[in-house]
Amino acid sequence: MIRPILAHPDPRLRMVSRPVEHFDDKLRALVDDMFETMYDAQGIGLAAVQIGVHLRLAVMHVEDNPKRVLVNPEYEALGEPMPLDEGCLSVPGMRDRTKTRRDWVRVRAQDVDGTPYEFEARGLEAACVQHECDHIDGKLYIDHLTPVRRSRLLKRYQKERERG
Ligand code: NI
Repeated sequence: MIRPILAHPDPRLRMVSRPVEHFDDKLRALVDDMFETMYDAQGIGLAAVQIGVHLRLAVMHVEDNPKRVLVNPEYEALGEPMPLDEGCLSVPGMRDRTKTRRDWVRVRAQDVDGTPYEFEARGLEAACVQHECDHIDGKLYIDHLTPVRRSRLLKRYQKERERG
């Protein structure tokens, strides 16, 4: 089932999500909905908070990498900061340049059955991990923009939303 995606400045996007503790059919159904919602919106990652579910959970499918389910994810930054034209399904229609994403991370997470696993991600997939982990902690990529870029983007965003 495709779920509605919350859009900035919805305050629910700013809440910190709680750990997933129950690895059951309900979680599997939620993950299925998240993939369906992400693909429908042509995104490469989606955190549960973006559909109003405050669990530490995200799904990703970045380029040729495998589909990933990140339950209770944590990452360690291994690489260097890289510039990236970043966007987010919760800030629709906008993109802007961030400079804080690392180009290489090691991720520790659980799968949908609760089994711990690890992987390393590079480039866009590494950035996506950081972006989704930000969502889980109530942060958005616009928080990483310089103040000038952020206020310019938010002005444009507000105008487009007023226009409908
Ligand atoms: Ni996002």
